[in-house]
Amino acid sequence: MRPIIPDYLAEVLGHVEPDSSGEPAAYIPELAAADPERLAAAFATVDGQVHGAGDVDVPFTVQSISKPFAYALALADRGFDPVLAKVGVEPSGEAFNEISLESGTGRPLNPMINAGAITVHSLTGPADCDPADRVERVLHGLSAFAGRRLAVDEEVYASEMANAHRNLAIAHMLRSHDILTEDARTVVEGYTRQCAVLVTTRDLALMAATLANRGVNPLSGEKVVSETVVRQVLSVMFSCGMYDAAGDWATQVGIPAKSGVAGGLIGTLPGRIGIATFSPRLDRHGNSVRGVSLFERFSSDMGLHVM
Ligand code: DON
Repeated sequence: MRPIIPDYLAEVLGHVEPDSSGEPAAYIPELAAADPERLAAAFATVDGQVHGAGDVDVPFTVQSISKPFAYALALADRGFDPVLAKVGVEPSGEAFNEISLESGTGRPLNPMINAGAITVHSLTGPADCDPADRVERVLHGLSAFAGRRLAVDEEVYASEMANAHRNLAIAHMLRSHDILTEDARTVVEGYTRQCAVLVTTRDLALMAATLANRGVNPLSGEKVVSETVVRQVLSVMFSCGMYDAAGDWATQVGIPAKSGVAGGLIGTLPGRIGIATFSPRLDRHGNSVRGVSLFERFSSDMGLHVM
């Protein structure tokens, strides 16, 4: 029997391959040095079938795709009310690295922008958590979503930290509003390590499929977070996951999604499938150009749009 899904994936990758528009992220020097030609796509179904094509086993850093998973961990660790008191759920309509704080309270608008994600990082683990233990808590949690032990790329971490002026400024703003209650630099260091966790496209498909499977990893069978947490996370991914391109994405692709500046992109169709793509060249919103094209194609070919 011919392997229909890998053939389909290879065909769709071939279709987007000639598009060389966009640029790899330049503000993190290690990412600017990435091979821009890398291209991969993978599907993981809720019953544990995984299919991929292209560079599916090439590692790259998770970056902002860590944000929905860290949000899930914070909700699980601290409960909804303490997290919602510090981070809202409204789309910002602005770029991922804008300050985007609610006037008056200083509460970041949502957990997908940097301001929200820096705050969410500080809300993972127990309240009195040591910074190193918190990074381990996040790493352990992301690993459970992926179904294998993940690790931090210390070079990408150091490269981003050496240029993290904007995130440090955001963290100091958050500290001035008492949204962050710990040392601003220490929180940014933890958040930057969270972003520097290495994943493959296959891992990302499984992480997305764990959300699709109501918090249970389809291969390991581990229940990582509750269904209530998953519903909250997917709702925020749907409205905020693609930043100031969230409206275009909602109309054209129509599933909850999250992008990262290393070129990864995930989408989750609840109850059915997790999808991941990888291609480092980004559009002006910081989303992968060929990744967005791949998802548009998957959505129309397979009728994924939830409406
Ligand atoms: O904080 C940052 O700027 C990066 N570590 C992550 C940003 C990111 O991935 C935005 N997504 N497209």
